[in-house]
Amino acid sequence: MNSAVSFHDNHPASTDGSIYDELLEGLTATPKWVSPKFFYDRRGSELFDQICQQPEYYPTRTEEGILKDWAGDIARAVGPDATLIELGSGVSRKIRLLLEALHPASYVGIDISRDFLLDSTRQLADDYPWLEVHAACADFSRPVTLPQSVVGPHPVAFFPGSSIGNFSPDDARDFLLGLGTLLPEGSGLLVGVDLIKPRPILDAAYNDAAGFTAAFNLNLLMRLRDEFGADVDPARFSHQAFYNEAQSRIEMHLVSRCDQTMTLAGHSVTFAAGETLHTESSYKYSVEGFQQLANEAGFVSRALWTDPDNLFSLHYLEREV
Ligand code: AVI
Repeated sequence: MNSAVSFHDNHPASTDGSIYDELLEGLTATPKWVSPKFFYDRRGSELFDQICQQPEYYPTRTEEGILKDWAGDIARAVGPDATLIELGSGVSRKIRLLLEALHPASYVGIDISRDFLLDSTRQLADDYPWLEVHAACADFSRPVTLPQSVVGPHPVAFFPGSSIGNFSPDDARDFLLGLGTLLPEGSGLLVGVDLIKPRPILDAAYNDAAGFTAAFNLNLLMRLRDEFGADVDPARFSHQAFYNEAQSRIEMHLVSRCDQTMTLAGHSVTFAAGETLHTESSYKYSVEGFQQLANEAGFVSRALWTDPDNLFSLHYLEREV
């Protein structure tokens, strides 16, 4: 058994106060919003796994298909002896497909959740004894730095799943610019990006018939109640998701079923019947639209792969020299 994982802690201890400030900033705004990062407690992560297996939610299986179908091409584009840096680590089938295709010199998993990160990187170290494995606990939505000995001479970041779509385009640009601390000039970035497509496919993907997306959305209120002490009844809200074509994004909301007041940390938040709490945006791009955005953030397109139905795209970008 090879559980040798070198651990790097880049995550400052968070203060409870700042979390409440962040929640209240959105809850007292007009219109009301909460960051989608609050979806991901243990139950939220389990529900997201279920979403990924639903027939309507095409992104996960389509991106996996691209990684399988184009494994040889991807390996040629990336080249040998890479340090593969996964942003958000590492239980998915996707990273395994990539490790097997690339045979990189080393793997670095970056995740904000320390326990989850240690479990997933130890598992990878066990399953791939030839691989040097590092774990870095950090919030990768902010600039991260790692020792040069870890980053190595050929770093390549992997950001799958169209998680970049959960940033607004401006924030996505800033995020890519911020990756400069991790990826010096000439480094690679392999990023999965969901594509613009007909509305019925998009609406169905975020309204699965089995109700996992609804449960995932409503779980945010359960978390506010159980973890953050909010006085709120999730049964008084319902799930809403729709494609906003003008903004090229899926919007997820929680709709108040009645006039009601939620309290959080001594603050009252009043909802009118029908008022919504915006919980997530998931931006969709054209291939050219995403390449343009990446270009504005200092990356050039080196290769691109899509599926036969043009549902999803995988971009290989290089940081401009
Ligand atoms: C994680 N992220 C890319 C997912 C998405 O499609 O935007 C989150 C999600 N929300 C509802 N379903 C899936």
